[in-house]
Amino acid sequence: MNKTSNATSIEWKEEYLISDHSLDEQHQNIFAIASKAKRLQEIQTQQEKEKEFKLILSELYGYINIHFKAEQEYMKQINYPYIKEHLSLHQTLLDKINFILVSLSTMSIEKAEEQLYLFIQKLFVEHITTEDIKIVNYNKDNK
Ligand SMILES: [Fe+2]
Ligand SMILES: [Fe+2]
Repeated sequence: MNKTSNATSIEWKEEYLISDHSLDEQHQNIFAIASKAKRLQEIQTQQEKEKEFKLILSELYGYINIHFKAEQEYMKQINYPYIKEHLSLHQTLLDKINFILVSLSTMSIEKAEEQLYLFIQKLFVEHITTEDIKIVNYNKDNK
């Protein structure tokens, strides 16, 4: 793992847009919350860092939950045929973020930052660009 794989490299890119204003905005908000972890660099003590990291991860977990509920409603409204599969992918993502949260006391801050980076920049981006986009495309094709 190279040393750029921490919270400081969390970055939203235009290529993550899926042409749905509301979902795109929520996805961007998720990046904005995760980016708060960049502040950890300025905190001196490990204890304070851990405390701040916990707050950020809790906020992230809460907001991702809200976003997933909104996406669930959207899938229902358009009768998306793969709703069950999609919801199970959401559950896996929530489990992952929860795992980082509960592991904070046993994991180094550096390791946790790397985990958050991988969660956002790999798992979450993959989910948006391969799965969420299918919902939007299904909606367009069936209008
Ligand atoms: Fe999704
Ligand atoms: Fe999404």
